This record gives sequence, C-alpha cells and structure tokens, in this order.
Amino acid sequence: MKGMVFTQLIEMADTMLGPDQVEAIIAKADLPSGGAYTAVGNYPHSEAVTLVGAFSEASGVPVPALLEGFGEHMLRFFHSNYPAFFSTCPDAFTFLESVETYVHVEVKKLYPDAELPRFSTYRMGPGRLRFDYYSSRHLENLAAGLIKGTLKLYNEYAVVTHDSIEGEHGPCVRFLIDKTTSSIQPSA
Ligand code: HEM
Repeated sequence: MKGMVFTQLIEMADTMLGPDQVEAIIAKADLPSGGAYTAVGNYPHSEAVTLVGAFSEASGVPVPALLEGFGEHMLRFFHSNYPAFFSTCPDAFTFLESVETYVHVEVKKLYPDAELPRFSTYRMGPGRLRFDYYSSRHLENLAAGLIKGTLKLYNEYAVVTHDSIEGEHGPCVRFLIDKTTSSIQPSA
C-alpha cells in the first residue's frame, strides 16, 4: 500500500487523538517497517489494518466509521494535491465515473506499484449512479467515504447505500448513489 495512505492515516489520527498518543500507539504496534513512512514508499497492507484497528480502539470509533472518515479525509487530500483531476469534471458523478477510466489510470503511471481497485459504473437515470467496487482488499467503507467526500466537494446531496453482490466481473460491492435536492434526507 502506498506510503501516502499511511502518512495521511497518521495525520488524521493526530487530529483525532493527538500526536503523543499516536506516537505511543505506533511504538506499541511493533510494525515491521518501524512505523516510519514516506509518501513515495510502499508498505504492507497488513500494517494499515493494524494501525486502523489500534486507532479505532484508542478513539472508540468503530473500524467501519473510522475508514469512512478516512475516505473523506483522503478525498480532501487528493483534491489539494491533484486538483487537475477535479477541475475537468463539472459534477460529482462525472468525477466518480472518471476514477476508473482516467484518475487511477494516471495514478498507475505515476506509481506502477500501486494496488488499485476496479470500478464499473452505470447511470441508471439523471440522478442515480450505480458504482460497483471490485477489490480483494475489501475497503468498501473507505470507498464510501471517498464517494461522500466527492459529493461534499461538489456541494451535492445524495443518499449512498451499498450491498455485497455478484457483479458482472465477480463478487463486488455495489453502491447506489441517489441525488437529493437538499441535505434533508428522505425518511426510510
Ligand atoms: C484524485 C483522486 C484520486 C487519486 C489521486 C487516487 C489515488 C489512489 C492511490 C494512490 C491509492 C493507493 C494505492 C496503493 O495503496 O497501492 C488509491 C487507492 C484506492 N482508491 Fe483511489 N484515488 C482517487 C480517487 C478515488 C475515488 C473517488 C475513489 C472512490 C471510491 C477511490 C477509491 C480507492 C480505493 C477504495 C482504494 C484502496 C485500494 C482498494 O480498495 O483496493 N479513489 N487511490
């Protein structure tokens, strides 16, 4: 997993828990890399799992919610560091559709060792996007946060749901993104 994921995870944890506690957690986790990450390095996925578990325990935030929050954090980081990917897309759906066909393609050119998920998207109507996520790493909560972060960035409102299903290319997590006109969500 790319070092930028680790440096950003630690940055978010610093805000949640304070740098001293984060340092103590990293020292206690006894990580193979020693817990010193550089943005351009590549580190085992298992270290990210260990850190997320430890930050969850220390903060009391359950792992799925922590991963979703991290997705929103990462989206803001991507927007600050790769603005060109966003400036060419007028709305959230166009940007989300471009991740598979353009953004991750460019990411792979920049970082050939990146391990990226696959997506298959389909517009079911003007306000409804189907977004299928394929990855052996099962980071659907991270994906949910990245999707919700994208909607916030574009000042758009939507109800986002997801389910594990058998997709066109095997098992996947299917997101349905339903645009609403305001932040007031329809009641169930
Ligand atoms: C400018 C925007 C984006 C950039 C630059 C970007 C780049 C990256 C990078 C560098 C990684 C790490 C790969 C590795 O650790 O080896 C990654 C992973 C990932 N990206 Fe993106 N990404 C962007 C937007 C998105 C969006 C909008 C989604 C929406 C779902 C997304 C979903 C994911 C997921 C879920 C992973 C984790 C790997 C996995 O699930 O298998 N990304 N991306």
